[in-house]
Amino acid sequence: MNLVLLGAPGAGKGTQGALLSKARGLHRISTGDLLRNAVRNRSPLGEEARPYMEAGDLVPDEIILGLIREVLSDEAGSGDAPPGFIFDGFPRTLPQAQELDDILRELGLDLHAVVVIDVPENLLVQRISGRRSCPACGAVYNVYLDPPEREGVCDACGSPLEQRADDDAETVRRRLEVYRKDTQPLIEYYENSATPVLTVDGARSVDEVYRGVEEALGR
Ligand code: AP5
Repeated sequence: MNLVLLGAPGAGKGTQGALLSKARGLHRISTGDLLRNAVRNRSPLGEEARPYMEAGDLVPDEIILGLIREVLSDEAGSGDAPPGFIFDGFPRTLPQAQELDDILRELGLDLHAVVVIDVPENLLVQRISGRRSCPACGAVYNVYLDPPEREGVCDACGSPLEQRADDDAETVRRRLEVYRKDTQPLIEYYENSATPVLTVDGARSVDEVYRGVEEALGR
């Protein structure tokens, strides 16, 4: 099963993607996580992507598509390929969606569903401002909604938690603007394709949203 998770910044794509990946053994490919790792490691990709990410803008399509092609051909071609992929935060523009169609076709893979996590804007802002992430193991918390047991420390691995550089109020406003302009139109693109679009109410608890996603996939 190959899935795309679509939703505004803070909608819960990473949270739900991690749960789905664990439950179904799917490989979650988060372009945001891949880019943040590259920025942290100061690789050429990271140095190229950093200014766009800091401004809340999209990283150019050709950079993202090179990255996706590399990850997918490594994974899909390997002997122990996973039973499917979850694309989290990708595609984000029309050219990315069209190219994903081509890449999947070349690899003989299908896109089974696009899951849209729908959350009102006031809740998005609260979720983003409270988010804290673990740079070591990738666990994600929220100081208001899902705090770690010890303030500022990852429950899973004990590392100090960080706030993302692009989670300040001004950059979040820009990211939401970019989502509305460049990414939201993809819902219509997929509605006009053969791939089912499953819209899930994301303004509920993490467990309720997860049950909503599984229910929609099971239909
Ligand atoms: P990316 O990392 O993809 O960021 P995003 O799309 O803005 O999404 P977020 O990671 O902010 O939110 P999320 O939906 O994953 O929510 P989460 O589960 O963490 O991209 C970052 C940047 O990289 C982009 O701005 C761009 O520059 C670049 N980029 C990435 N991909 C690109 C691409 N394809 N093309 C071009 N550029 C690209 O949850 C948020 C918070 O809410 C957490 O604290 C969580 O604990 C909490 N939470 C989640 N669900 C719930 C719930 N149901 N109830 C209560 N709290 C919840």
